[in-house]
Amino acid sequence: MLNSIFNGNTMNKKSNIDQESTDIYSFGYQKGVIDYLVYRAQKSVDFILPHLNSYMEVLECGCGPGTVTFEIAKKVTKGNVIGIDINKNQIDSNNTKVDDSDFNNLQFEVANILDLPYSDNSFDIVYMQALLIHIKNPINAIKEVQRVLKSDGVILIREPIMDRTIVSPEIPILIQAIELIQKAICSYGGDPSIGRKLWSLLNGVGFKGIQISSNWGQPHTLDEWSDFYKGWAEVYRGKIGDIILENGWVDEKSLVDISNAFINLGKKKNGYAAAPWGEAVGRK
Ligand SMILES: C[S@@+](CC[C@H](N)C(=O)[O-])C[C@H]1O[C@@H](n2cnc3c(N)ncnc32)[C@H](O)[C@@H]1O
Repeated sequence: MLNSIFNGNTMNKKSNIDQESTDIYSFGYQKGVIDYLVYRAQKSVDFILPHLNSYMEVLECGCGPGTVTFEIAKKVTKGNVIGIDINKNQIDSNNTKVDDSDFNNLQFEVANILDLPYSDNSFDIVYMQALLIHIKNPINAIKEVQRVLKSDGVILIREPIMDRTIVSPEIPILIQAIELIQKAICSYGGDPSIGRKLWSLLNGVGFKGIQISSNWGQPHTLDEWSDFYKGWAEVYRGKIGDIILENGWVDEKSLVDISNAFINLGKKKNGYAAAPWGEAVGRK
C-alpha cells in the first residue's frame, strides 16, 4: 500500500499482514532500512568477537543482510557459521555473496527462530539482534535457542529499548513517529523495549552467569547522519506504515509527512539522535 502512497496513488488496498502470525517482521526490506542495518553492524561485531574462537559452531538468528555473520566467519576460520532468517530474499542474496567469496565455513538458511531445523546441543554460540522485539512469545524463541546450544554454550542478544529513544530537536512530528512505531510493534504482540527485559528472559529459562550491559545506537559523524535518517524514513514506508494506516492512527498524508520529517532532519545535520540497546550474555 505504501508504495502507491509514496508514488502519489492513495488508492486504499488491504495489506496481507497476518495478525495471528507469531513472527511478523514489520520494518521491511527497503533499501534504506537494509543500509541502516549494515551501517550499525560494527556495534554488534564489537559485542560478539570477544566470545569467539576459531573452532566454534556459531548460529546467528534473524541475520538480515548478513553483515555480522560474515564478520563472525572471519574469526571462526576452523569452525562453522550459519545465519538464518525467515526472509528468503535476504538468505538468497547472502548466499550469492558467499558463492562470490572465499568463505567455506559459512552458510545461510531460511528458518524460523521458533522452530530451528537443528539438533539439540549443536552450537557453541547463538547470537541475535533486533529480532526478539518482533516475536510475540520471545520466551519460546529463547527456549528454542537453549535447545540447540551445547551444554555450556553461550547466548548473545542485543535488542532495542525504544521507549527511551532521544531525538533532538524534539519536533512533535518526530516524537509522534517514535510513539507510532512502538504502537505498531505492540499491535502484533511484539515488545519495542524488550532490551530492558533480557536478564529476566534468560533467567526465566535457566541460563547461568547472565551478564547485562547497554549501548547507544546513533550516527557518530555528519556523513553517517543522513543515512541514519534515510533508514528511519523508509521504515514508515513498509509494513509499519501499513499497520499505522490500518489502525487509523494517522492519515496517509501525515504518514508521508512523518517519513519526510526524518529525511529533512537528515539533511539539516544539526540534531541529535540516540537509541539505547540492551545486551545480554548467558551460558546454558
Ligand atoms: C531488524 S532485522 C535485524 C537484522 C540483523 N539482526 C541486524 O540487527 O542488523 C530483523 C530480522 O529478523 C528476521 N526475522 C523476523 N522474525 C523472524 C523469525 N521468527 N525467525 C527468524 N528470523 C526472523 C527478519 O526477516 C529480519 O531480517
